[in-house]
Amino acid sequence: MEQITKAADLELAVKEAKSQNLEIGLVPTMGALHEGHLSLIERALKENDFVVVSLFVNPIQFNNKEDLEKYPRTIDADLNLISSLIERMEGRRAKELLAFTPTVDEMYPQGEPKEVYHFGPVEEVMEGPRRPGHFSGVAVVVRRLFDLAQPRRAYFGEKDYQQIAIIRALLEQIKYPIELVPCPIVRADDGLALSSRNMRLSPEARAIASTINATLEQAAEMAEYEDVDDVKEWVLDTLSTFHEVNPTLCPNDLKFEPEYFEIVDARTLQPIENWDNAGDLGAVGCIAVWLDGVRLIDIVKF
Ligand code: PAJ
Repeated sequence: MEQITKAADLELAVKEAKSQNLEIGLVPTMGALHEGHLSLIERALKENDFVVVSLFVNPIQFNNKEDLEKYPRTIDADLNLISSLIERMEGRRAKELLAFTPTVDEMYPQGEPKEVYHFGPVEEVMEGPRRPGHFSGVAVVVRRLFDLAQPRRAYFGEKDYQQIAIIRALLEQIKYPIELVPCPIVRADDGLALSSRNMRLSPEARAIASTINATLEQAAEMAEYEDVDDVKEWVLDTLSTFHEVNPTLCPNDLKFEPEYFEIVDARTLQPIENWDNAGDLGAVGCIAVWLDGVRLIDIVKF
């Protein structure tokens, strides 16, 4: 593994790899790596000759300054995790992995980028209106990474389901021949989707956080015989009343506060009213829920 901090050095390494006809895989991250990120890196290492992992906390995608400041920066531990993954994989992997860890100035030498992306209906639902400017900021950084790494494949996690739809729309707009590879959510043993935010949960909150996934899984079973609206209502109700039904598990006013739960077409992300309305990718349920001052997101496929 080699660590690179300069965009020009990344460009050189990519040029060299291209001259050898190596296929490049890109895994964009903001660092604070956990097994979820590592699953993307592992897959990229299996499917490509040359892998670029970027670790960059992208300021322009944060619409909340405090969230940006609080974002964990653990670069040394991250590089160690990648090294142990490479060792774990022995010979079954790409020849080379570059960890790209630029500073903000290196990424945006002209200062804050002026470009703004619009994606229409896919960004007008769920996270979009609640985090103004977020997806445009993601698109700007991902496009810059595409330009620098020129990957054949790019890996994104389904935990950020709407982000995948946004990247798909970005690729349609800019017409780059990059294969978008969506990767399944990696979960803790109790089912909670791994996230760097989980560390901020108190032990009591962490103990009940698995209820989110458990409720979504039950919803998937209900979907066999219940209408979309009833499933939606049941999920929101189950989480909002959890503290009333389980008072001993919820000391000190601990409760789930769902921000949204939407059942949408998995490609267009538009809400569906009937299960039959879902298109080729099927239907997916996406949730954002507050617990103990932490905003958690998860999805379930129907
Ligand atoms: P970050 O939150 O660091 O996530 C990097 C990638 O890891 C994303 O594609 C995300 O969906 C994936 N990921 C996170 N948790 C996961 C889990 N439990 N299972 C599987 N995959 C998981 O998403 C971003 O960074 C940024 O928006 C970025 C795309 C890097 C642009 O700045």
